[in-house]
Amino acid sequence: MIVITGASSGLGAALTQHYAADDCQLLISGRSKQKLAAVTATLTPAQQDKVVSQVADLSVADDVSRLFSQLSTPPTTVIHCAGSGYFGPIEQQNPQAIDQLISNNLTSSILVLRELVSRYRDHKVNVVVVMSTAALAGKANESTYCAVKWAVKGLVESLRLELKGCPMKLIAVYPGGMATDFWSTSGKDIDTSSFMTADEAALMLKNALVATQHGYISDLTINRG
Ligand SMILES: NC(=O)c1ccc[n+]([C@@H]2O[C@H](COP(=O)([O-])OP(=O)(O)OC[C@H]3O[C@@H](n4cnc5c(N)ncnc54)[C@H](OP(=O)(O)O)[C@@H]3O)[C@@H](O)[C@H]2O)c1
Repeated sequence: MIVITGASSGLGAALTQHYAADDCQLLISGRSKQKLAAVTATLTPAQQDKVVSQVADLSVADDVSRLFSQLSTPPTTVIHCAGSGYFGPIEQQNPQAIDQLISNNLTSSILVLRELVSRYRDHKVNVVVVMSTAALAGKANESTYCAVKWAVKGLVESLRLELKGCPMKLIAVYPGGMATDFWSTSGKDIDTSSFMTADEAALMLKNALVATQHGYISDLTINRG
């Protein structure tokens, strides 16, 4: 079973389609029931039979717990794609929107990783955390977005030390610009025509997650080019 968060849109939705095409059993999650249903509707009936969807706001601990309580056995992989953007010069940023940014990116990652470590640290589970190239370098007019993504990177790197010797693995993913709904929901009006499609990024990520007996890709930067 593969769990994909943020599956109602963008990268998570594209990953859902790629893994469903391989006949994988999936638990997919997002906040919007309608958007999750629309993603499921793109799958064949046979693929749909293997997909369970669950609405969850991952910034709420009870929702996170309920999501993983759906599983009767540990998942093989969890891909945490949920997140959102918010941009602009800091003096023009709205405190409520900053709170939302922190909830969607940082609180959600803390709660998801807390739940996963508590349930599965002694199981062979690959936990993939999608951050951004904004977690790797500062960017003007992206200060609060960089701040939350850098914080998630700190979370992942610290938990790796706590999980030393455990079969659970944390895989850090840093994508560059993708042409998804992320930009319209973030309020940033930019031309995304040269950006990767979600489908392209999903394909590269899925390929990178293929591990061998003695190795796996632990950190992945997906640049647009
Ligand atoms: N697009 C880019 O250029 C880009 C670049 C680098 C990194 N990223 C990162 O990549 C990830 C995926 O982005 P995307 O482009 O696929 O964005 P997207 O199309 O806007 O999708 C975001 C997904 O996250 C979900 N989500 C947001 N907040 C949530 C919450 N509190 N609880 C549960 N689900 C929540 C959304 O659910 P609902 O829609 O159902 O509310 C949606 O499924 C994000 O972490 C983003 O920061 C994006």
